[in-house]
Amino acid sequence: MVAAAAAAERVVAELREACAAPAARLNEVAAAMEAEMRAGLREEGGSKIKMIISYVDNLPTGNEEGFFYALDLGGTNFRVLRVQLAGKETRVAKRESKEVSIPPHLMSGNASELFGFIASALAAFVADEGRNQLFQDKQRELGFTFSFPVRQTSIASGTLIKWTKAFSIDDAVGEDVVAELQTAMEKHGVDMRVSTLINDTVGTLAAGRYNDEDVVIGVILGTGSNAAYVEEASAIPKFEGELPKSGNMVINTEWGNFSSSCLPITEYDQALDDESLNPGEQIFEKLISGMYLGEIVRRVLLKIASQSTLFGKVNHTKLKTRFILRTPDISAMHHDETPDLKIVAEKLAENLKIKDTSLETRKMVVEICDIVTSRSARLAAAGIVGILRKIGRAVPGDERRSVIAIDGGLFEHYAEFRQCLESTLVELLGEEASRSVAVKLTKDGSGLGAALIAAAHSQYQH
Ligand code: BGC
Repeated sequence: MVAAAAAAERVVAELREACAAPAARLNEVAAAMEAEMRAGLREEGGSKIKMIISYVDNLPTGNEEGFFYALDLGGTNFRVLRVQLAGKETRVAKRESKEVSIPPHLMSGNASELFGFIASALAAFVADEGRNQLFQDKQRELGFTFSFPVRQTSIASGTLIKWTKAFSIDDAVGEDVVAELQTAMEKHGVDMRVSTLINDTVGTLAAGRYNDEDVVIGVILGTGSNAAYVEEASAIPKFEGELPKSGNMVINTEWGNFSSSCLPITEYDQALDDESLNPGEQIFEKLISGMYLGEIVRRVLLKIASQSTLFGKVNHTKLKTRFILRTPDISAMHHDETPDLKIVAEKLAENLKIKDTSLETRKMVVEICDIVTSRSARLAAAGIVGILRKIGRAVPGDERRSVIAIDGGLFEHYAEFRQCLESTLVELLGEEASRSVAVKLTKDGSGLGAALIAAAHSQYQH
């Protein structure tokens, strides 16, 4: 048993070392992120980070009014929303929504099936309006949040560059996703105009700004990860055409595809990437987002099981099943405060069929969760610092308040992750500069944000 513990401890020690993200390394990551951002703004294809021009050049003011629909597609569920905006005083007067889970086969089928499924749910939701004369003689308008990399061609059109997360529908790549949605809606008899196409980070930024005018960055830390921010339009060399009156342009960085030799990458990340739906892509996302953290931990546990007898006689079938350990599971284990780590024992037994673990073994598992999650939170903080530096925020001499709106289950539900991200920001920015920086959980940015931006681009706007 001593030998088993030593072998397992060696695996953990190697993991700790390979995942190390001390401040010096994070500063390199932030600098590399900033350099890639500049390269991506200079020319199309100039960087692995796409730095997508969103065509959102004005963020909500609070004066928005009217009924708007929103559609939020980006994970295993999609949502349809109907929002009533009622100006400065009342703000959101009413918000109704319906969430629908996407059958897994539609995530890798063909585009018309997926959009048809969505349009039929939308049709049912619209029918719910009942006899209320919400729109009278006006056409319904919809803000579409589509949370994948899209080459935006206008505020209401854009072609899919590639799928990420668990999606892989080949015939949609290169197509205009708004046209696909619009066609599906017509087939299902939904009379509605898609007035805006946005990314969830842009929605989060917009919803954050609606409530706090100092919000300058929107970040998603959920199944996937990404950030958007407000850039000066004149600082975007690749931008063609007339500069917007506001002088600003929201940029969707698509930082998930960032990669750099300064990232702490382990053998587990390498294998996860090799076996993923999109090898070689979304490297930063694979290190930090909720879709992958549980899977990294599973791979470490599998290695321990194959190199030691610490878990006793284990049937490896479960342990070898990809994505069987999810990030909510590792969060539950990480936050286990029972004296004998009962929750860890339960999770190991239920999910992986690893039974009868000793307290020492459970502590080791908690440490693995901690190593993987801290690396993730610290890297996410470094990414945010890279953006702040790019826009000259929270640097010596900058007195402005800078607020970062963050949404996503990883940030919302994983307290250790959130605390680590916040403390790392202070560590990297310094006590003084970090006093002007605030991080705000902005729930449902992708739904509300789409409605807000749809309002700003309404055809009935004067
Ligand atoms: C996508 C982004 C999205 C992020 C968060 C990533 O996989 O590429 O467009 O913003 O996930 O949903």
